Amino acid sequence: MKIKLGLLYGGKSAEHKVSLQTAKAVIKALDLTKYEIHPIYISETGEWVRGAQLEGPVEDVSKLQLKEEGKPLSPVALNSEIFPVSANQTNDDKIDVVFPLLHGPNGEDGTVQGLLELLNIPYVGNGVLASAAGMDKVMMKNIYEQAGIKQANYVWYIRSDWEKNAEAAYKNVEETLGYPCFVKPANLGSSVGISKCKDRESLVKAFEEAFEYDRKIIIEEGIDGREVEIAVLGNDDPQCSVVGEIVPKTDFYDYKAKYEDGDTGLIIPADITEEEYAEIKRVAIQSFKALDCSGLVRADFFLTKDGEVLMNEVNTMPGFTPFSMFPMLWQESGLPYSQLIEKLVGLGVERHEEKQKIKYTF
Ligand SMILES: Nc1ncnc2c1ncn2[C@@H]1O[C@H](COP(=O)(O)OP(=O)(O)O)[C@@H](O)[C@H]1O
Ligand SMILES: [Mg+2]
Repeated sequence: MKIKLGLLYGGKSAEHKVSLQTAKAVIKALDLTKYEIHPIYISETGEWVRGAQLEGPVEDVSKLQLKEEGKPLSPVALNSEIFPVSANQTNDDKIDVVFPLLHGPNGEDGTVQGLLELLNIPYVGNGVLASAAGMDKVMMKNIYEQAGIKQANYVWYIRSDWEKNAEAAYKNVEETLGYPCFVKPANLGSSVGISKCKDRESLVKAFEEAFEYDRKIIIEEGIDGREVEIAVLGNDDPQCSVVGEIVPKTDFYDYKAKYEDGDTGLIIPADITEEEYAEIKRVAIQSFKALDCSGLVRADFFLTKDGEVLMNEVNTMPGFTPFSMFPMLWQESGLPYSQLIEKLVGLGVERHEEKQKIKYTF
């Protein structure tokens, strides 16, 4: 029996187009003797559409943007056993395991994961808690502080407190962090709304901009270090890849450097010492466990001149095209893209089976 894999992609998100590229690559890499691929497309306005089973790779990504050819889908219909939504729905419609290829809010933040939990369908990647906590930079840093993981000093504000007394907020930033500092919306990715500030004037602008994207923002002291990243894979016994380095050509790794310039250097493996590698691995595993992650995480660090490793952030659904850091790190570690995908599906099923052992009554 083949595994019915529901590929969930698109999404009401700035990363819609990236997600389509990822879906195309994942489809191409899947072994069709083992998997039936069932496309589930989320449009830019948030509608769910289910397409016919795919017979092979898709060349043109616009074909993945199912419009007329797909059936509108109520998300709960993914498990017809639990929610038989219409009389003509059969159990053949049931998906065995879902692979969410979604980034950012409404995909990487625990919302989709919560739906799949309710439906009791196995899915790839992090659960509700890790996804939600990893999406919110303040929550993530609070958890890491409590776990004793070294990171940049930070403060945070909600919009209404800042509106009541902006001057006090700026003063607090200057006194506790100083310049340069980074201002970020708490709940975004892709460097959107992030500014590096060097004085009061840029700080004021940065607060205003970040609050356009979120009601909560975080301000961090600027760290002078190399940006290194490591990929983690597993459930209770996670494993690490080699380390990669990002060399932005701009002042920092901003939106333009990530998506428009395309000439940011990725160095894999990074030129680091054995001790630095050991420390990055140690902290990556610690951060995976502290957030109760499962499946995968890309952990991003700053490595300072004197070899200090400071956590920047974890990404619970990192970029996943074959040219993204996470798959490339595994490729370099001896795990090619297609095997990585199989491994992730297996980990999702394993976590689901583990969960079925839990007693819900007493
Ligand atoms: N505290 C910091 N010190 C130095 N550079 C930073 C700091 N925080 C962020 N950056 C720069 O900004 C980029 C984006 O910030 P990050 O927190 O990783 O946001 P995102 O979730 O959008 O990737 C980083 O890759 C790095 O180049
Ligand atoms: Mg980042």
